[in-house]
Amino acid sequence: MEKSREQWHSKLGFVLAAAGSAIGLGNIWRFPYMTGQNGGAAFVLIYMIFVVLIGFTIMLAELTLGRHTQRNPVGAFAKIFPGTQWKWVGALGVVTGVAILSFYSVIAGWTMGYIFKIATGQFNNITDSRQVEEIFSQFVQNPLAAVGLLALFIGLTVGVIVGGVSAGIERWTKILMPILLGILLLLLVRSLTLGKGVVEGLLFYLKPNFHAVKIETWVQALGQALFSLSLGMGAMITYGSYISKKENLATCAAYVCIFDTLIALLAGLAIFPALFAMGMDPAGGPGLVFLVLPVVFDMMPGGTIFGTAFFILLTIAALTSTISLLEVAVAYFIDERNWSRKTAAVVVGVLAFLLGIPSALSQGASTWFGCIPLVHMPFLDFMNVLFGNYALTLGTLLIALFVGWKWGTKNAVKEILQGNSQFKFQSIWMITIRFVAPAAIIIILIYLICTGKFF
Ligand code: PHE
Repeated sequence: MEKSREQWHSKLGFVLAAAGSAIGLGNIWRFPYMTGQNGGAAFVLIYMIFVVLIGFTIMLAELTLGRHTQRNPVGAFAKIFPGTQWKWVGALGVVTGVAILSFYSVIAGWTMGYIFKIATGQFNNITDSRQVEEIFSQFVQNPLAAVGLLALFIGLTVGVIVGGVSAGIERWTKILMPILLGILLLLLVRSLTLGKGVVEGLLFYLKPNFHAVKIETWVQALGQALFSLSLGMGAMITYGSYISKKENLATCAAYVCIFDTLIALLAGLAIFPALFAMGMDPAGGPGLVFLVLPVVFDMMPGGTIFGTAFFILLTIAALTSTISLLEVAVAYFIDERNWSRKTAAVVVGVLAFLLGIPSALSQGASTWFGCIPLVHMPFLDFMNVLFGNYALTLGTLLIALFVGWKWGTKNAVKEILQGNSQFKFQSIWMITIRFVAPAAIIIILIYLICTGKFF
C-alpha cells in the first residue's frame, strides 16, 4: 500500500520552498564571481536568455515528473518506464546532489564564519581593500575553521532534514527570504552612492561587450542558470512530488524562475559598483563577495548590524538550498531502500562531509588540494565546474530528452493541466523541451569536445 506523501501546505508554501532551494549562494556568491570572470554584461544577458529558454522549460518538466510520479528522481524515472536504464538519470542526480552539497557547504561555512567576524567588528574602519584580503585569506587558510564550519553547516542541514519536509522547510523560508531581499536593497543603495567607480561598475555589469564572448562564456552561463535554479539533478523532481494536484505547475515554475533571477541580478547590481569603487579585480574568483561586501557594510551607517544580519540570512538561504540537495538523496533512500529518514540523512550527511574536506582544505590550507593535477585548479573549484556545471548540464539534457521524447509532451501536459490549471505557453513549451533545450546543450557539448576546453 502506498503511504500518502507529505505535501506543502499551500501554493505560497511551495513556491517559497522551491524559491528557497533556488535562492542561495548560487545567486549571491556564485553569480557575481562568474559574471566577473566572464567579462560582465554579455554574460548576464546570455544567462538571462538561458533562464527563459532552458531554465523555465526544465523547471516545469522536473516539477511535472515529480508530481506525476510522487517519487524521488530515481523512482520517478523507474515508475514511468520500469526496468529501463532511465533510472540512471535519477542516480546521476542523487550523486550530483551529494557532490554539490560537499563544496557548497564549505562556502556556507565561510558565510557562517563571517557572521562572527562582522559582528565582532573585525572589518571596522577598513581603509584599504588589501586589509580585507588579508583577513579573508587567513580565515580560509585555517584548516580547523574551514573543516569545523563545514561540519557545523552540514550538521544543521541534517538537523532540518530529520525534522521532515513541510515543518522544516516551509516555516523558515516564509519569514526569512523577504528580509534578505530587504537588506540586499539597502546594500544596493549604499553601493550605488559610493561615488568614484560606480559608473564604471555599472557599465561593466550592464553594457554588453560581445567581443569578450567565448565558448566558455556560453558554457558557464548555462551552468550558472541551471545551478542557480537548482535544475538538472532532480531537486525540483523531488520538490514537485510534494505539490498538490490542485496547483498550477506552470505558474509555480514561473514564480520560482522570476524570484531567483531577480535576487541574482540585484546581488550583481549591489556588488559591481562597489567592486569598481574599491579598485578591485572583477575576475577575482570565489572570494569575490567575501572581499567586497564587508567593505560596503563598513561604509554604511549601522553597518555592523546590517552586515551581521545579512550573513545570518545568507547562511539561512544557503541552508534552504542544501536542504534540497540533501533531500534528493534522502528521498531516494527512503522510497527505494526503505531507510528511515533519520538514518538516510545522517549517512548521506557524513558522506558529504568527508567529500567536502578536500574542498575545505583547497583554499590555502593544503598545497596538495590547492592545485589538482591536470586541471590545475583548487579541488573546490574543480568540483564546482565538474558538478555545478557539467553534471547539471548533462542531467538537464537527459531530463529534456526523457520528457520531450520518451515520456512525451502529451503525457506531461496532461499532468500540468490537472486541477483545471491553465497553461498558456503549452505549444511553446512543447517546442523548447523537445528541440530548443536539447539542441542548445548538444551544440555546446560538441563545441566543448572539439575545443577540449573543459576546464
Ligand atoms: N540553487 C542553489 C543556489 O543557487 C544551489 C543548488 C543547486 C541547490 C542545485 C539544489 C540543486 O544556491
